[in-house]
Amino acid sequence: MKLKSKLSLELKTALEKWAEERLECIGVYKDKASDFEGLKDKLIKDLRSVYSDKAIDLFLRPKNRTIIQSPDGFARITGPCGDTMGMYLKIKKGRITRATFQTDGCDPSIASGGMVVEMVTGMRIEDTKKITQQDISVALEGLPEDSLHCALLAANTLKEAI
Ligand code: FES
Repeated sequence: MKLKSKLSLELKTALEKWAEERLECIGVYKDKASDFEGLKDKLIKDLRSVYSDKAIDLFLRPKNRTIIQSPDGFARITGPCGDTMGMYLKIKKGRITRATFQTDGCDPSIASGGMVVEMVTGMRIEDTKKITQQDISVALEGLPEDSLHCALLAANTLKEAI
């Protein structure tokens, strides 16, 4: 496992809540399991060994995951996995002034959507056309191979919205 940086209090709280919910989903409860804290720590450690803290923060505490009324650019795309992403853009003088997304997809798709709208806000339209799946993955400090298509869904939705 890569050495990870210290967690912010907000992310630590979100991770603990996520792990508690995951354990409760499989019938492991805080007041009944003797090693609840140990199991929680293991789940968090496993998640952090797959995704960067930046990606985890974006899917546990999504930002800009909302719709924009009357957007200047909009697209909704369903990827081969069956998940859908929508992207909403506000544009002024050739620059994106606000970007948001929605998805019914997996955690990496939430992170990818959140990252791409963060990346393009304030950018000139011309420059956003160059953003690739790889750029999104790099900005998320790497995605596992089997989640790269989630970044592709975000890149393709952005292209269509533009
Ligand atoms: Fe469908 Fe991630 S599995 S977008």
